[in-house]
Amino acid sequence: MASNTEFGSKIGLIAATVGSAVGLGNIWRFPAETQTNGGAAFLLLYVLCLLILGVPVMLAEFSLGRAGRSDAVGAFRALSPGKPWYLAGAMSVLTSYLILCFYIVVAGWTLEYLWESISGGLFAGIEHGVTPLAEVRSLFAARMDEYICTPWRPLLFTFGMIAINAGILVCGVQKGIENLSNVLMPLLFVILVVLCFITLSLPDASEGVKYFLNPDFSKITPRTVISALGQAFFSLSLGMGILITYAAYYPADTRLGRTSVTVSLLSLLVAVLMGLIIFPAVKSFGLDNEPLEGATLVFVTLPEVFANLPYPALWSALFFLLLLVAALTSTISIAEVSVAMLRDRLNMRRSTAVIAVTVPLMLFSAVCSLSFSVPDTLQLFGQTVFNFLDTVTTNVFIPLVSIAVCVYIGWFAPKGLLRRQLSNDGRLHSPFYPVVLFVIRYVAPVLIALVMIFNYL
Ligand code: PHE
Repeated sequence: MASNTEFGSKIGLIAATVGSAVGLGNIWRFPAETQTNGGAAFLLLYVLCLLILGVPVMLAEFSLGRAGRSDAVGAFRALSPGKPWYLAGAMSVLTSYLILCFYIVVAGWTLEYLWESISGGLFAGIEHGVTPLAEVRSLFAARMDEYICTPWRPLLFTFGMIAINAGILVCGVQKGIENLSNVLMPLLFVILVVLCFITLSLPDASEGVKYFLNPDFSKITPRTVISALGQAFFSLSLGMGILITYAAYYPADTRLGRTSVTVSLLSLLVAVLMGLIIFPAVKSFGLDNEPLEGATLVFVTLPEVFANLPYPALWSALFFLLLLVAALTSTISIAEVSVAMLRDRLNMRRSTAVIAVTVPLMLFSAVCSLSFSVPDTLQLFGQTVFNFLDTVTTNVFIPLVSIAVCVYIGWFAPKGLLRRQLSNDGRLHSPFYPVVLFVIRYVAPVLIALVMIFNYL
């Protein structure tokens, strides 16, 4: 394998993998899920799912990718030639592409909100401390309609994000993905810590901290467990072919066990910091009776918080920059799944593969974006195209791919593959191997299947 298709440094590969894992899932989906599912009890379940199931399943994907040294389809082909397992790889590529189609639209919104924060449009007509709260709220709700639910504006920003994404991907693994992640990931942590300091110093911030960190166990229901598992898998980028693809770029001496724990803990840290930013802020300004669902949380409630602080445009620009960084390092990783497949399977040049991924993406993401402005026309099974893709990938495709990877690595892969990968061909001591194998063989497939079934009940 040519050296420019490997990550160049340990820090770089961690930054790129954490960049993939830390995305809108941690920053936006996590606080919304936490609120819907009763606060701290959800956090606890999420941590358990992350460590008990997430880390082993991540190791299964890493092992598959590094042993196969190929894209998500090619890895199965290389390890089990002539067997239909490569179909699981094909399904992961499909999953990744479907997710990319709607995720890039949200990434476009963040670019738009960043632009509007800097240019002053977002806070126009709002006077700090003067404009009544109810009026501020309805202004932001109206702006969300204008910025997201009109046909051309959001489309323009989505195409902007697609162009940025394509530009980075053309530069390749080391020069594009790795170099960018090395700069952006530290920036992301700095912004998070600054915002955390600001909200924790607000009056009555401790109320929010209590809500987020003091579990009320009576709130745990089967639904909470399902949501926590779904959130853990989504936030670790499992079941999307990403970790298989990235692991193929890991050098032979990368310690997979350590890498998976580091990535999971950093992803958890971002989610926790986000909770410590949002809950104290909404409690402090009495906004906690508003639903913190999806888009409203990020595009209405948080701007309201910023409007209550001195220098609203500054905090808002910092926050949307944070969101943009998180989204960008994730969209790159998920687009790389298809780019790698086209390069390895069809021998395309990187630049041709990027074009082949980008052009249809413009079309499909346009459909997703427009499904907000013409929701009655652009529907699939009674939902907007956007919501349909979101639901079907999270509830069906990701779990199916994850089960297939676990069953393959646990039972059907060449003998000793997992042990060799965890121990770097016997050079490392891998005390957790039996536990990881047990989880991959029995616990993970059964639990994921149960969650899928419960989801339909
Ligand atoms: N873990 C990512 C996130 O939280 C999942 C993801 C990766 C989604 C790449 C889309 C693209 O956002």
